[in-house]
Amino acid sequence: MSLSDVLTIVGGFTSVFYLLKLSWRCCSGFRQFVLSEFWRVDVRTFGQWAVVTGATSGIGKAYASELAARGLDVVLVSRSEDKLQMVAREIEQQYGRKTRTIQVDYNNGRSIYPVIAKELQGLEIGILVNNVGMLYSDHFAYFLEIPDSEQRITQVINCNMLSVPQMTRLVLPGMIERGRGLIINMSSEVGVRPQPLLSLYCATKIFVIYFSQCLHAEYKSKGITVQCVAPFMVSTNMTNNRTANCFVRSSSGFVREALNTVGLSSFTSGSLSHALQNIALTILLPDWFRMSTFFIRKLRNKAEADKYYKRVWKETLVEKED
Ligand SMILES: NC(=O)c1ccc[n+]([C@@H]2O[C@H](COP(=O)([O-])OP(=O)(O)OC[C@H]3O[C@@H](n4cnc5c(N)ncnc54)[C@H](OP(=O)(O)O)[C@@H]3O)[C@@H](O)[C@H]2O)c1
Repeated sequence: MSLSDVLTIVGGFTSVFYLLKLSWRCCSGFRQFVLSEFWRVDVRTFGQWAVVTGATSGIGKAYASELAARGLDVVLVSRSEDKLQMVAREIEQQYGRKTRTIQVDYNNGRSIYPVIAKELQGLEIGILVNNVGMLYSDHFAYFLEIPDSEQRITQVINCNMLSVPQMTRLVLPGMIERGRGLIINMSSEVGVRPQPLLSLYCATKIFVIYFSQCLHAEYKSKGITVQCVAPFMVSTNMTNNRTANCFVRSSSGFVREALNTVGLSSFTSGSLSHALQNIALTILLPDWFRMSTFFIRKLRNKAEADKYYKRVWKETLVEKED
């Protein structure tokens, strides 16, 4: 056999391998994001109650509402008592489900968990959504530009990271006892790959990914599903309520799609649009370029320009109102 025959065979096998891989990804994407609209897990089978952290706005509020719409009673956990009462009333009136509220500040670290444990006592918790999370700057910022950094670093770690295993510790034993349970952990696309100018935030999000994947592997044989959701941009307070479009999803649309993927994927972008953006980004923005000083400067300049235009826009609006 000549060298060119060997190369032809190797080339053929490689092409078939990649074609099969691509077909498999397309089929599972179709099942995950298209068929799941008609053929999805009944979330009521996990148990009577769902607990949602950071439940008074954005993605958390959307999870709480969608879970209530699908027949669960909901425990809402957040910082502001007024907002908690408002969302609880909305859910009770709209979906006729029971609600409970727990007012805590996740920035405060471990002192809050005995309070949460007491409030959750006696409830059959089937689903936990570890959604709470915060950014530390409203634009792309260098690490040393984090405002009040001494305090803020601890707060971000307490809120984005510590909350996830601590909340899990509280509900997992009951789930294992009943042989079923679902834990949804909210990561982010910027946790999938490193994102300069969001250093601390993206590091907290990869913590969520690894923790979720290992937890799923450890407890799936006990009937526990752990799903990690890593979205791109969703229109919420965190993203200055950008207008929703085919790239930026509305929180309710995003959560509806993401919940449909439960049982089909333990790690998901949450929506078809975000899954496609993930593929596009892998091809168009390789890590070496994203980590380069050139790209970081460009990103930073764009962020500065956006901030400037936003300020001018706001000032113009105020002048017009006057
Ligand atoms: N939006 C996006 O594009 C996007 C993309 C990827 C990942 N994510 C992740 O998705 C999750 C939700 O984000 P979001 O955009 O929905 O955020 P959001 O609109 O800012 O909502 C955050 C929620 O968490 C609560 N919260 C914030 N800090 C808290 C604290 N220290 N203690 C207790 N509750 C607190 C807020 O309520 P109160 O202010 O009333 O306490 C609010 O209910 C986060 O983990 C975020 O990292 C978001």
